[in-house]
Amino acid sequence: MPQKPKKQATRLVVRQVTLADHEQVVRLQLECFPGMKPWTLPQWQSMLATFPEGQLGVDMDGEIVASSASLIVDYSEYATWHDWRTVADGGFIRNHDPEGDTLYGIEIQVSPRHRGMKLARRLYEARKRLCRERNLHRIVVGGRIPGYAAVKAEMTAQEYVAKVIRKERHDPVLTTQLSNGFIVEQIIPEYMPSDEDSAGFATCLEWHNLDFVPPLSPRGRLPLHSLAHDAADPLEAQPHVHRLGRDEHLHALRDDHRAPPSGSDTTSLKSCRSNPCRTRIRARPTSTTSSGSRPANKAY
Ligand SMILES: CC(C)(COP(=O)(O)OP(=O)(O)OC[C@H]1O[C@@H](n2cnc3c(N)ncnc32)[C@H](O)[C@@H]1OP(=O)(O)O)[C@@H](O)C(=O)NCCC(=O)NCCS
Repeated sequence: MPQKPKKQATRLVVRQVTLADHEQVVRLQLECFPGMKPWTLPQWQSMLATFPEGQLGVDMDGEIVASSASLIVDYSEYATWHDWRTVADGGFIRNHDPEGDTLYGIEIQVSPRHRGMKLARRLYEARKRLCRERNLHRIVVGGRIPGYAAVKAEMTAQEYVAKVIRKERHDPVLTTQLSNGFIVEQIIPEYMPSDEDSAGFATCLEWHNLDFVPPLSPRGRLPLHSLAHDAADPLEAQPHVHRLGRDEHLHALRDDHRAPPSGSDTTSLKSCRSNPCRTRIRARPTSTTSSGSRPANKAY
């Protein structure tokens, strides 16, 4: 009896994308964001030259089936967080600031053929790793709510988002972001009028890096080796300054987010009063045209 050939195991790797992946990522974008213009070659080259570690792909047996793009910004320098064109520099990310404190996600996508396989989770995990390695304070992403338009006659966007947070409804994008530990900071009306499925609404979400060590000066960061608890730690000489500051910061975060002591994977709709970025994030209708070839406001 002839032996049945053994099925090859699928090889799945999260890796930095390269110039050679441009065509594949464009194909993915056309599948995931129909009607939107994909990255041009100059945008792609610029993103990879500026911040290669932030441009990730899930490689399944040699095919890019999911990808994400991000840059680092200084949180305090951005007044209009919802404006994709500004924060993404129209897709060129020349505003990437290696000394910044926030990883800003400008795109995430999974091929429709591979959704629900936790590939988005792999990309979010890779972003979180990057955030910890760079000692960044947070990840900020914007999000569509593509399940909302179908029920908008029955409830407001706020009610819809609250139901998704309470797990009474499922939204293909927001549920994914919440299950990856992001907290809704704000609901933005007229964020992207062309996003009919979301009825133009979007959310601004944050994930806080609880391992973040506050910098000693506004622009200076503690070196990563300061996290090591060994005698050679140069900060050992001033443990009070370093570790007390960090603990206080963690307590503040936990109180602020009413998170259980165990961790960061909590979800809640924060009240505007307690929202630390309330003054920085303003909902303002913006144009849908862009200086690059992508729309002015795009979900991340
Ligand atoms: C949003 C997107 C990236 C998610 O990708 P994905 O690979 O399906 O995501 P994952 O499989 O990692 O996670 C989906 C989550 O939703 C949950 N989920 C999926 N279907 C669900 C359902 N019917 N009910 C409840 N939860 C459900 C999954 O359980 C999973 O959470 P878990 O990891 O805690 O189990 C993908 O849908 C996409 O590319 N959409 C188009 C582009 C887009 O809009 N991007 C986002 C811009 S803001």
